[in-house]
Amino acid sequence: MLYIGIDLGTSAVKLLLMDGEGKIQKIVSKEYPLYFPHPGWSEQDPEDWFAGTMAGIQELVEGCDKSQVAGISFGGQMHGLVALDREDRVIRPAILWNDGRTGRQTDYLNQTVGKDRLSAYTANIAFAGFTAPKILWMKENEPENYKKISKIMLPKDYLAYRLSGSFCTDVSDASGMLLMDVEHRCWSKEMIQICGITEEQLPRLYESYEVVGTLKTDIAAQLGLGGDVKVIAGAGDNAAAAVGTGTVGDGRCNISLGTSGTIFISSDRFGVDENNALHSFAHADGHYHLMGCMLSAAACNKWWNEDILRATDFAAEQKGIAKLGENQVFYLPYLMGERSPHNNPDARAMFIGMTMDTTREDMTQAVLEGVSFGLRDSLEVARSLGIRIERTKICGGGAKSPLWKRMIANIMDMQVDVIESEEGPALGGAMLAAVGCGEYPDVETIASKIVKVVDTVEPEPELVEKYEERYQRFRKIYPTVKGLF
Ligand code: XUL
Repeated sequence: MLYIGIDLGTSAVKLLLMDGEGKIQKIVSKEYPLYFPHPGWSEQDPEDWFAGTMAGIQELVEGCDKSQVAGISFGGQMHGLVALDREDRVIRPAILWNDGRTGRQTDYLNQTVGKDRLSAYTANIAFAGFTAPKILWMKENEPENYKKISKIMLPKDYLAYRLSGSFCTDVSDASGMLLMDVEHRCWSKEMIQICGITEEQLPRLYESYEVVGTLKTDIAAQLGLGGDVKVIAGAGDNAAAAVGTGTVGDGRCNISLGTSGTIFISSDRFGVDENNALHSFAHADGHYHLMGCMLSAAACNKWWNEDILRATDFAAEQKGIAKLGENQVFYLPYLMGERSPHNNPDARAMFIGMTMDTTREDMTQAVLEGVSFGLRDSLEVARSLGIRIERTKICGGGAKSPLWKRMIANIMDMQVDVIESEEGPALGGAMLAAVGCGEYPDVETIASKIVKVVDTVEPEPELVEKYEERYQRFRKIYPTVKGLF
């Protein structure tokens, strides 16, 4: 049978066709615009997601035996607020995961409701990008829109709704709404009350590998697929990427260098970091995970290359970078504020330490290093909890750079396992579809059969030492400049 994985990303939707053995048959990608209507705001039109997905599926299945397509599932950008009215019309553009407008509402939740209560209800505290503060923002700033809300959903759930008619979400993605009791995998009555909504406005919760419905007849006809194609709940993109990289079961790690950067640690047991600097979320394998998320990872490199250097060949820009661990230039990667571990939507990016002999390569290197140091900040939180991680998988656009992988290995002092396919969330989505359709009994089994490590980047002791010294300097910069933001 064939399975479709849909990675609903921030710059594009990526669609992947996988066979029952786990072989990737085809990948298609459709871009759509991202809007920044005010500094620090970030929005998209859900109709663009749906149009891109429909066009993408059509292209993906062209030429294949369509009767073999058994299931579709998702990995979706997390935390976004999609609000529909009674007629199922989108009320306003979706407010995305990297939107920083909710500073006031986040402060209200963390300070007035209180971090302890939030953590007791949901296992997490409020971060500006999470969904609950966005609901409160709408209530305060767009009361007319707020009154119209009939359904609240996450980005990928909008696709599932349009494709199947099922008003559903999955526990991994819903964990990032600050509306779910993560430990017990159900909606939090207290949070629902705090946000002034009702449970009827929220989707039904599923495990990521559960079937939520089948394709609607008109949609199946448009796509040329059978009406019995199953739609499976799917996962937040990080949990889906973890499935796609085999980061399932206990104590495994995945680093994603996408628009955002994340460090994802899977766990058999529920656990919370007492300062809530790491997110404590449900995993798509039926268990849990801890995660640190930086808002701008490969996005920093894209911004630096495309917007500032006006360069399109990112690899060429990295060619002249020879000396690692000695760069005098530092870069703070906070182009959209920062989530983990600083939780400050007002933080901003900066370069520091240039001299007259600083080169273009030094600046490019500083960007790659700054993102890696930012991820190390989250790793340090995990280490402070006694979590020992010696190796990690890696995925996302940034993982295509051998230089960046080498930096990660040395800055983190971890072995970096490179897998055959770096298509994290799209592959994870297809794998969840295969489990949902019964081709495999569970997520751990499919991951152990399909995911193959093809190379390992080893940390180099001399570089680890040099980078340790650089990192100790890096971590002093944010506390020194934070008063400026
Ligand atoms: C995770 C997060 C991002 C988005 C990116 O908490 O906000 O990784 O999911 O799509």
